[in-house]
Amino acid sequence: MPSLLERYRDFLPVTAQTPLLTLNEGNTPLIHVPRLANALGVDELWLKFEGMNPTGSFKDRGMVMAMAKALEAGAQSVVCASTGNTSASAAAYATRAGLEAVVIVPSGKIALGKLAQALMYGAKLVVIDGSFDDALNIVREMGQAHPITVVNSVNPYRIEGQTTAAYEICDTLGGAPDYLALPVGNAGNITAYWRGFTRYFERGHIASRPKLLGFQAEGAAPIVYGQPVCHPETVATAIRIGNPASWSYAVAARDESGGLIDSVTDDEILAAWRDMARLEGVFCEPASAAGIAGLRKLVGAGRNDGKGRFVAVVTGHGLKDPELAVKQFAAPEPVAADLGTVEALLGWEASVAVH
Ligand code: F0G
Repeated sequence: MPSLLERYRDFLPVTAQTPLLTLNEGNTPLIHVPRLANALGVDELWLKFEGMNPTGSFKDRGMVMAMAKALEAGAQSVVCASTGNTSASAAAYATRAGLEAVVIVPSGKIALGKLAQALMYGAKLVVIDGSFDDALNIVREMGQAHPITVVNSVNPYRIEGQTTAAYEICDTLGGAPDYLALPVGNAGNITAYWRGFTRYFERGHIASRPKLLGFQAEGAAPIVYGQPVCHPETVATAIRIGNPASWSYAVAARDESGGLIDSVTDDEILAAWRDMARLEGVFCEPASAAGIAGLRKLVGAGRNDGKGRFVAVVTGHGLKDPELAVKQFAAPEPVAADLGTVEALLGWEASVAVH
């Protein structure tokens, strides 16, 4: 399988000079999930499992493009602000490209797996006493004042790379879905999907474009409220963002597609998160369940009739945030290491000894 930049080079800003960087990103599974569809009350549902990318999130699609272009332009170092996944991806691809990476993250709110990644891939990690939005402001200023390339989605190559997920969905399904549901944080991904579907539509690869259904966490829903949120809070730390960089693009994507951007509560996110794992064996990080939580909310309230083909974007892997997963359950107490005790614990009848 050719790399992502090679496969979709006609749709990307790839030139003869662009290094074809890769960690084998993209080509992620599109999983048919009839049990989850039934539980939600929708006809046909697929999960685009972006957690299967090399660093465990959709960010790798944009990062490979941004890093290749940084390399092409002769950059030596890159910087990003992050709620965790962007920093993991930037750190990995910078290493791959032979560039130095600086990542700036809010203190105490980064899922453990993501922190481990940034450290292991060898980024310079700066933890600030502030929010993601504060970190992004610092990064923008650093980009102006120093010879360093910003690889947040304010870098246009990030959005371009992320359009590839829309192409893959259409290529796999043989057309566009009717609806695409996804979480919204800094709003780069909803922007990228709309651009991707639109490009495929304009070049005649698909006959229609989906309605985009974006979901923010209730405590971090500036687009829904129509104003920035100064102190965003949500259990879904990946989308704990109060002033999204791609706000106006997200609103355009929503309106041009005839879709919506709504909010879901933390409880709705956590319920959808558990259901995805228990009903279909798809373990994602909490923020990634916002699309499914939102679909359930819309169909449950009769705001969507559930008819047609739905794709939900599952943005990051469950192993990013193992602490929160384990906290959902009572810790099992160790018991004596013999068959009888295990049988009794499971409520089974004692087995007859075989001699
Ligand atoms: N899901 C996950 C797992 C994310 O990490 C993010 C964003 C989103 C959804 C929202 O995507 O920002 O394009 O609207 N994470 C960024 C980060 C902010 O720093 O990793 P968006």
